[in-house]
Amino acid sequence: MLEEKGYIEETINPSIKLVEEINRLKKEKNAVILSHFYVEGELQDIADYVGDSLGLAQAAATTDAELIVFVGVHFMAETAKIINPNKKVILPDLKAGCSLAESAPADKFTEFKAKFPKHKVVTYINATAALKTMSDIVCTSANAKQIVDSFPKDEKLIFGPDKNLGNYINSITGREMILWDGACIVHEQYSVEKIANLIDEHPDAEFIAHPECEKPVLLLANHIGSTTSLLNYVQKSDAKKFIVATESGILHQMNKVCPDKIFIPAPSIDSTCGCNDCEFMKLNSLKKLYICLKHELPEVMLPADVIEKARIPIQRMLDLSK
Ligand code: 13P
Ligand code: SF4
Repeated sequence: MLEEKGYIEETINPSIKLVEEINRLKKEKNAVILSHFYVEGELQDIADYVGDSLGLAQAAATTDAELIVFVGVHFMAETAKIINPNKKVILPDLKAGCSLAESAPADKFTEFKAKFPKHKVVTYINATAALKTMSDIVCTSANAKQIVDSFPKDEKLIFGPDKNLGNYINSITGREMILWDGACIVHEQYSVEKIANLIDEHPDAEFIAHPECEKPVLLLANHIGSTTSLLNYVQKSDAKKFIVATESGILHQMNKVCPDKIFIPAPSIDSTCGCNDCEFMKLNSLKKLYICLKHELPEVMLPADVIEKARIPIQRMLDLSK
């Protein structure tokens, strides 16, 4: 059942106060809750740490909790497990995947890599653990430039799985990294025409975008960065209005830290589809979090050899990002 569904199904007494129960269980089990900015606001608010992929990996690396509850997607929980092989890492729904991670199956990536035997491999953290075992270093959107710049200028590099982030890093570093052809379903949905119209309608607004967006969208942006970078930017900027091209969950934090500013989600090609939501992140819920913490299931498990190999490029990234 757990395998099939990705989570344990259980009828919960409606009188149970989920937030209170989660906090009680968390203390009792010496657990830490790490949430990404893209999950529902109530799941961000209950977290001990909420952040971007880099911040979450760093939080996982420094926690002294015995149990790590990852409210995000599978590759993030996997990273936490790789950093903490002796701790239990649980995820409310094992089916919370990622289109980028899925775009690069290990067998296909092995073939791709074999075509460029002299190239070093820089892997975006939105990838499976198997891909990380084949990588020289991992990066996130927050540190991708810094990680790529850490290689000598003449070092040949492969970058995967996100071609949009790879293209962007090529453009700001002057490199010609070979790119794997993967993309995020959420960030590829933005309509450059609709965004341009919205910018015209709101000349007082700044347009900010995540580097997983396509190049024509990024060319319009006043600021490009990871979710944390976007959040910092709206706090520092004098502008009172922002058009935001990344998953809608970040608006919860933006509204929290800047209640007097206005945040407009960037429009997608199909405005009726709710494409600004990551369907994987949104598989998390308060109810699933409660059940997961109660049973300490589903657990993220990885073979010992995968943990050992994948840990090296992740640790390199963490060492460079202190
Ligand atoms: P950040 O690391 O910027 O939070 O991005 C994670 C992600 O999945 C973007 O789609
Ligand atoms: Fe993956 Fe895109 Fe969802 Fe981020 S928003 S977790 S890249 S599918």
